[in-house]
Amino acid sequence: GKVLVLHGPNLNLLGTRQPEIYGHETLDDINNSLYEKAAINGWDIACRQSNHEGELIDAIHAARQDGTVAIIINPAAYTHTSVAILDALNAFDGKVIEVHLSNVHKRERFRHHSYVSLRADGVIAGLGSQGYHAALDALIKAS
Ligand code: DQA
Repeated sequence: GKVLVLHGPNLNLLGTRQPEIYGHETLDDINNSLYEKAAINGWDIACRQSNHEGELIDAIHAARQDGTVAIIINPAAYTHTSVAILDALNAFDGKVIEVHLSNVHKRERFRHHSYVSLRADGVIAGLGSQGYHAALDALIKAS
């Protein structure tokens, strides 16, 4: 299978951004360990990050055309604001798993609502970078 891992705004700062909330690993650390897991299991994975809503949407559109069977997405702050990302995911036919490093439900109220959860087949929050691994494991096991 082919999986797209999409990281939203500010996640390029992982490792130095509020490490008490988001951990000390960098985005490259996380992506590299996901590439490793995918390779071991014979899966094809592409990891992308953007600070721009439209670029995330373009990446979701591209996934409709290139044989991607699932999207693992941490939409970051766009989780709580973006009807446009929800609409793009609704136009994608494969599996969608939403991941948050932090447990958004024990944080500010504005983080409790997710537009993306209206589409997601699964949601993982609060497990740090292990959440991405849990998502990938679940996709591999379900295939
Ligand atoms: C986040 C949670 C969001 O509320 C926040 O805006 C982020 C990261 C997380 O991974 O915990 O940027 O998606």
